[in-house]
Amino acid sequence: MKYIFKLTCSLAIMAVIGLGSAFADGKFDNAIKARKALMSLYAWNLGQLGAMAKGDAEYNPEAAKTAADNILSLATLNLGSAWPQGSDSTALPGATRAKAEAWTTYPESANIHKSLVTAATTMADVAGSGLDQVRANIGAVGGACSACHKKFRETE
Ligand code: HEC
Repeated sequence: MKYIFKLTCSLAIMAVIGLGSAFADGKFDNAIKARKALMSLYAWNLGQLGAMAKGDAEYNPEAAKTAADNILSLATLNLGSAWPQGSDSTALPGATRAKAEAWTTYPESANIHKSLVTAATTMADVAGSGLDQVRANIGAVGGACSACHKKFRETE
């Protein structure tokens, strides 16, 4: 009985996932994949700085500078092509968490992105000069990420 329940659950989950991609009909799959990859790379690099800031990892000037440079490089890539019109969570529920408001209120999201570039520039300038500098600037970088998520990303 338990087994059948589990099986039913897995089938239901698979149906939901399948439905998500059926809605997406494939057209925007790669664009969504690309922007999620960008976000994962942001998170990976910010995570390194975060671990140092929290004292979970030892401060290493080269590693801190590299992570900060990477965030700045990522933030200055021109990836507008990964955000095509119509690839929002209203049109494609389950396939993306990007809210339609990111497009309808444009350039609000672009302005938040600019604040990320500003914060990342400062971080890249100072991350190699001491843990205090990382700690002093990580709030501005992380704050730009979460400002955008709060407005333009569906909660999970
Ligand atoms: C201009 C807006 C904006 C900025 C700035 C931004 N994000 Fe995002 N982020 C989004 C949106 C929108 C999504 C949802 C993307 C989707 O599902 O298509 C997202 C998704 C994510 C995800 C989930 C990726 C996945 O695989 O589903 C992570 C992790 C993430 N962001 C981390 C970050 C970090 C770290 C930063 C800052 C260094 C950042 N983001 C900056 C808008 C932004």
